[in-house]
Amino acid sequence: MDTLATWSRRAAYAARQGARVGWFAAHGELAQAITKRVARRHGSAGSKAPRRRPIGPTPDQRRLFAQIADLFRRDLANVEAGHYPLPSGEFGSPAAFLDLSRRFLADVPKVARRRATGAHQEVFEATRDEPAGLPRYYRQNFHFQTDGWLSRDSARIYDFQVEVLFKGATAAMRRQALVPLSQLLRQKDQRRVAYADIACGTGGLLAPALTAFPRLAGVGVDLSHPYLQHARTTLSRRARARASFVTAPAEALPFADDSLDVASCVYLFHELPPKVRRQVAAEFARVLKPGGLLIFADSLQEGDLPENDGLLHLFPALFHEPYYEGYLTDDLDGMFARAGLRLREMTPAFLTRVAVYEKV
Ligand SMILES: C[S@@+](CC[C@H](N)C(=O)[O-])C[C@H]1O[C@@H](n2cnc3c(N)ncnc32)[C@H](O)[C@@H]1O
Repeated sequence: MDTLATWSRRAAYAARQGARVGWFAAHGELAQAITKRVARRHGSAGSKAPRRRPIGPTPDQRRLFAQIADLFRRDLANVEAGHYPLPSGEFGSPAAFLDLSRRFLADVPKVARRRATGAHQEVFEATRDEPAGLPRYYRQNFHFQTDGWLSRDSARIYDFQVEVLFKGATAAMRRQALVPLSQLLRQKDQRRVAYADIACGTGGLLAPALTAFPRLAGVGVDLSHPYLQHARTTLSRRARARASFVTAPAEALPFADDSLDVASCVYLFHELPPKVRRQVAAEFARVLKPGGLLIFADSLQEGDLPENDGLLHLFPALFHEPYYEGYLTDDLDGMFARAGLRLREMTPAFLTRVAVYEKV
């Protein structure tokens, strides 16, 4: 029977997530209004990209919020099943959170100007003489974001930006990747599990993973040094003691053959050219031990949740996502299978697919 404590936890969770959705959705509305104003100033309707009709079904706002509510129900069920603790304090103190809001809003007109003028090569121009070993495809203003992946300012507001994009549901989508990790760790001694999060960015998965599993150590790998620096600052003191960070490309991972028990990778593959996706898949297969797991979370693909297909196709028209359209129909399972990673399960979670592959 549900106790009073259970009901009060559920009520607190619902209030918190409701406020979160309201907060980020309001920032989304504000950002849209600013974007329209900037677009008018530049004499464009909001994007250099040709206006498109949705290809396939597109859920209305009501349906989107219903999908988010489903995600939150699942998130809470995972907490109650003991997979991970209730989320808290992700954006620091209330003052830090307000400061992020200010920084986010101050950046919106810059992003809007890039979108209105189609400017997505500022990073390429800035690194033309000193590419610092960064691949060409990486040196772009993905999402039209200021400084691309290459500054502390960009790292600081990245998570806020993504939450605005997904109406506050991003962290809960990512947490679905903690479920297979929790299932794996229940059978093992956490201290002996070799774990890395590849393309960890600001630590969106690594931080909750190290919080949820208090004896697990993890390596965060990313090509962006500023993002890794920021990731370190988001960790609690206890989690920081178990974390290490390496600036390296996913296509040449800094691990020996057959050395990892589990790797995770969140929101990377849709940003890679198809050829690089295959290189990275081969790297996962190389570094995982036989029987090791890849926990993969990225955008839904076409057909994963057919009612969202049209929405997925609209995304690259609004944000600079040069490899996203190809990602939508790429045969990921076939690609991983050819690399030696067999699909175990795939679960859609709002706009994310969470898949688990096992090295055979
Ligand atoms: C959309 S962000 C996702 C970050 C994080 N995993 C998350 O859940 O928010 C993509 C990240 O991939 C990193 N990245 C892109 N290409 C990479 C590559 N070839 N090797 C390593 N990291 C890469 C970027 O620097 C950025 O931090």
